Amino acid sequence: MISLNIKKTLGFISQDTINSYKDVVKKAQEALENGTGQGSDYLGWLHLPSSTTKEHLEDIKATAQTFKDNCDVVVVAGIGGSYLGSRAVIEALSNSFDLRLENRKNPIILYAGNNISEDYLFELLEFLKDKRFGIINISKSGTTTETALAFRLLKKQCEELRGKAIAKKVIVAITDASKGAARITADNEGYKSYIIPDNVGGRFSVLTPVGLLPIAIAGFDIEQLIAGATQMEQATALTVPFENNPAAIYAATRNELYKTGKKIEILVNYSPKLHYVSEWWKQLYGESEGKENKGIFPAAVDFTTDLHSMGQWIQEGERTIFETVISVEKVNHELRVPEDKDNLDGLNYLAGKRVDEVNKMAELGTQLAHVDGNVPNMRIVLPSLNERHLGQLIYFFEIACGISGYILDVNPFNQPGVEAYKSNMFALLNKPGYEEESKAIQSKL
Ligand code: PA5
Repeated sequence: MISLNIKKTLGFISQDTINSYKDVVKKAQEALENGTGQGSDYLGWLHLPSSTTKEHLEDIKATAQTFKDNCDVVVVAGIGGSYLGSRAVIEALSNSFDLRLENRKNPIILYAGNNISEDYLFELLEFLKDKRFGIINISKSGTTTETALAFRLLKKQCEELRGKAIAKKVIVAITDASKGAARITADNEGYKSYIIPDNVGGRFSVLTPVGLLPIAIAGFDIEQLIAGATQMEQATALTVPFENNPAAIYAATRNELYKTGKKIEILVNYSPKLHYVSEWWKQLYGESEGKENKGIFPAAVDFTTDLHSMGQWIQEGERTIFETVISVEKVNHELRVPEDKDNLDGLNYLAGKRVDEVNKMAELGTQLAHVDGNVPNMRIVLPSLNERHLGQLIYFFEIACGISGYILDVNPFNQPGVEAYKSNMFALLNKPGYEEESKAIQSKL
């Protein structure tokens, strides 16, 4: 089971102060459980793990098999919550260098619809020209410009290169039950489709087909992922006392740190495989808490890589930060530092040691240095990197985010602020229906 260690925050805030959050945390948990808090229309994720049925997972696995039988590459078209969760799990569990295309057991997963870069899309389409590829079109609203634009290009190419009949087999939509362009296209074309429940917001949707289908296609065990999330659902239930509930303690600790002026939380990892876990986490917390002119700014670094870029700032910059380290206890492979007779690099003192031992000492040394530099430090320990522990981590962050948002007294389940750029972009592009905005924006240029 994953665990949380807050010991290295205690020189900055006291255990008593953290414990004093017990009642406010309980209230937040009750509001979530009873649906009495802000944004209560979006609590479908709360008991999603324990209510996921075997039949649902079997159906997703069967669709994944159709992709495996017909594709070497599958493109996930989606942005924000519609791709970050699957990418986080897939990149955490994949062999980083298994890039071959032939004789793959599982298709390579690529991503589109998360930017509007013409070069990115051009190069992707070029790459896919001679590939057996399929598409998962993921959009809760079904109207997101980035995703719709990429899907239009990908669909056209898939139909032209693979023929309409195959395209129909290897294009799947994950979207709203009845609304939006993605739903209409799926119904008109007869694509297999999955519904994103109305009451599950994008950034909380990784344990719906949004995350599960791409993860299953990539060859990972979605039953274990859900089993892990279910364990964490139980470990963080309302009946669990505050001091035994890691999500309650995490939410309380970060809110108390925020109150003392630590306005930026940096999520730290020591494996590049976890980069997208941080990207997913940034969206989850950023969109949930950054509103009404408040909220901890969620940032992330990949160590030791970024110790050589951001390390200076973290050690000695403005003291408004705290760190939450995701630490993986046991890595999946073994590699020892070889002895070298010339020892020109002076590394023989490490000969025979595991590379991970060096990494762990970097982690410990960094923690001590940063705490000495007045950066409070929390650690989330994963016994190893597998589906079960990632499932636990996902639910841990989700439930802690719900609690934390309610402690902060914001609606953690909406994102009104993301509409501002869209409206300006549509006005500038003269989208039908935006005539007034188009006129108004010209005066600002
Ligand atoms: O969390 C959210 O709701 C958003 O970040 C969405 O995931 C993102 O904007 C994509 O929206 P959609 O799935 O409707 O295309």
